[in-house]
Amino acid sequence: MPTHTFVLNGQPVTVDAPDDMPLLWVLRDKLGVTGPKYGCGVGVCRACTSHLDGQEFQPCTRSVQDCEGRTVTTIEGLADGDTLHPVQEAWIDCDVAQCGFCQPGQIMTAVALLRRTPNPTDADIDQIQNICRCGSYPRIREAIKRAAAGGRVH
Ligand code: FES
Ligand code: FES
Repeated sequence: MPTHTFVLNGQPVTVDAPDDMPLLWVLRDKLGVTGPKYGCGVGVCRACTSHLDGQEFQPCTRSVQDCEGRTVTTIEGLADGDTLHPVQEAWIDCDVAQCGFCQPGQIMTAVALLRRTPNPTDADIDQIQNICRCGSYPRIREAIKRAAAGGRVH
């Protein structure tokens, strides 16, 4: 089986996997990184949202071969040691999560949004496509605004 090497949450990793295996399968089933959730598997629900070279992406829609030599960050790699990312702090302050399933993807999407748009409007936040079956959208909006007001997202 081919081997693939990429940087995952700051560490180089090498895995044996078919070239066309979706990265989400590699993360969850081969590397035990389960923050990115498996919802739809076709890029719609965004529960798996993570970052590829610092940009938001859905690892269910990218093959492991596509990620060769690149940098993947999942929710597990967002905090700096014991120091939570400002968006994670805002999520806790606003008590966003309900069942929690969608929340890693929501947070990774919010971080990407705030890097692009440090002071997002309601219309900017409305562009987010991540699905939350529990309906935590009002608290997600509040947390994004709180993180933006703190001005520490980079
Ligand atoms: S599982 Fe990746 S977008 Fe739904
Ligand atoms: S918190 Fe349950 S799906 Fe979003």
